[in-house]
Amino acid sequence: MSILSTKHFIGLEEATKKDIETLIDVGYMFKEVLDRPIKKVPSLTGINIANLFFENSTRTKLSFELAEKRLSADVINFSASSSSLNKGETFKDTVQNIHAMKIDGIVMRHPTPGSCLQLTKYVDSVIINAGDGSHEHPTQAMLDIMSLHEKFGSLSGLKVAIIGDILHSRVALSNIYGLNKMGAEVMLCGPAHLIPPFIEDLDVSVSHDLNEALDWADAINVLRIQRERMGIGLIPSVREYRKFFGITNKRLSALKNKIIVMHPGPMNRGVEIDSDVAEGDHAIILDQVLNGVAVRMSILYCLLGNEKDIKKNEKK
Ligand code: CP
Repeated sequence: MSILSTKHFIGLEEATKKDIETLIDVGYMFKEVLDRPIKKVPSLTGINIANLFFENSTRTKLSFELAEKRLSADVINFSASSSSLNKGETFKDTVQNIHAMKIDGIVMRHPTPGSCLQLTKYVDSVIINAGDGSHEHPTQAMLDIMSLHEKFGSLSGLKVAIIGDILHSRVALSNIYGLNKMGAEVMLCGPAHLIPPFIEDLDVSVSHDLNEALDWADAINVLRIQRERMGIGLIPSVREYRKFFGITNKRLSALKNKIIVMHPGPMNRGVEIDSDVAEGDHAIILDQVLNGVAVRMSILYCLLGNEKDIKKNEKK
């Protein structure tokens, strides 16, 4: 059924440039649908999708659910906190029981890196990774890439700085894979202990100087300090982090060129980004959220839709 190079959507490490281009093109088609008075198409009528969230989410969970409903799929939602996992049921039994209800596609977020790949071995559904621990968050990177494409027209040669807690960030890794494939240049910027060793092997540059990164970049993607994955002590204090790596209007207004500011959310206002930046005219944060619905419709349609139907729409 998939018109991409893979049956599943586990990570942008495996995706091809053509896959990413197709997802952006089809994403624009669905963005137009979201502007119509009746924001719904019959593309996934009769397809059953389960959203399995083993970890908290606002944007990704609601965005997938809305995307599925806009495509007329039938949707069930699973939340680990109110499930029989709490009675001792295993992950394998949980997903195999859900799959037995004739599920065509599973969207899963899980705190363990590699869990979506593991799921492909337990069930015969199309699997979409909605974030697996600190590994990948490919649908977030797709909405980031679509937002940059929309703003700049092309990603070839575009300079994108990813700023903050790279070590714990699945968003950073998926963006690195995707942006490189699309011909963008990537710089990572953050405190030395929040940037993984050998990350330059992924064809990125590294700076620990925020002003250098801001001077260089056309766009920045500001990452959340993930205090829940850090244990204690990786940032000495919020005030010190903001002083060296916080995105403030003062820093942005000192730049020669106007740059675009993205953030995947949720934000720590006053830590990695100030409120007046998040709500100012550099930021495209809420545009990213809308593109998230469109590009997730695109991913679902390209993996689960009728192949002939998709090709016919692509030609239009
Ligand atoms: N960007 C993102 O993944 O947000 P949620 O955790 O709210 O889904």
